[in-house]
Amino acid sequence: MSNKRIAAIFFSATDTTKKYVDAVVSALTDKPDIYINLADNMNILLPEFSDGDILILASPVYGGRLPEQVAKRLKELRGKDATAIIMVVYGSRDYDDALLELMDITSDGGFHIIGAGAFIGQHSIFPRVARNRPDNKDLTNAVKFATRCKESISHGKRSNLEIKGNRPYKKVMRVGLIPIVDKKICSRCGLCASKCPTDAICVDNPTVTIAEKCISCGRCISHCPHKARKHSGLKYKLIDALFTRAFSKQKESEDTVL
Ligand SMILES: Cc1cc2nc3c(=O)[nH]c(=O)nc-3n(C[C@H](O)[C@H](O)[C@H](O)COP(=O)(O)O)c2cc1C
Repeated sequence: MSNKRIAAIFFSATDTTKKYVDAVVSALTDKPDIYINLADNMNILLPEFSDGDILILASPVYGGRLPEQVAKRLKELRGKDATAIIMVVYGSRDYDDALLELMDITSDGGFHIIGAGAFIGQHSIFPRVARNRPDNKDLTNAVKFATRCKESISHGKRSNLEIKGNRPYKKVMRVGLIPIVDKKICSRCGLCASKCPTDAICVDNPTVTIAEKCISCGRCISHCPHKARKHSGLKYKLIDALFTRAFSKQKESEDTVL
């Protein structure tokens, strides 16, 4: 491959998207030049790109769209004719307009898209849906997808990809399911507050979550060393039962390469 940079910029709150990103990166390079998980720092300064660079861009699907805060940051990226591989990861319900939205943001930013994929990952709110995905087969397929992208890049292919979705995109909807804290278990260590990508947890009292800021991403739940945070309550249990029944059929990932 060229000596230009290989970069990965993504958002992964509970590390499912990250697994796919790592599989794709592994097919392209031993060590990416840039590797940014926006969930670690939503305010990080983003690099500029230029012709010859390859950027892997990935995001989970929230309500059939990209998470609003993620879309906002990705719109700042400037490709100057760099190549992009775009990926969304979703919990087996649907990815609706999210991949189309990511494609539009990426091409508006001046990138040339060589491959796009919608991949299945365990649902971070309703974990019985697509449980333990990605599995080995999913990750092998992601590596194959990346290998095909690599071949197309070396052949200098340039054209447009057909992506599923509608414009205008689906209306942004907030899930509104806020994790519940077991105050008897919580040690007030504050790790959840430091990991929350939207600063929705009070640093002084981590048992308090600011509902208007919480995007239900599940990062606080997955990082709590004491398992003091979880989705619970009657409303959650009801939706979980209905959702799990409706989307129990396992889906397969879809990808397309020029
Ligand atoms: C707020 C929220 C909304 C979601 N909306 C959808 C959706 O519309 N369709 C779907 O199939 N999965 C949906 N999911 C599931 C995530 O896309 C999926 O679990 C993804 O793997 C999470 O990625 P991460 O672990 O990298 O954060 C949603 C998850 C969250 C937290």
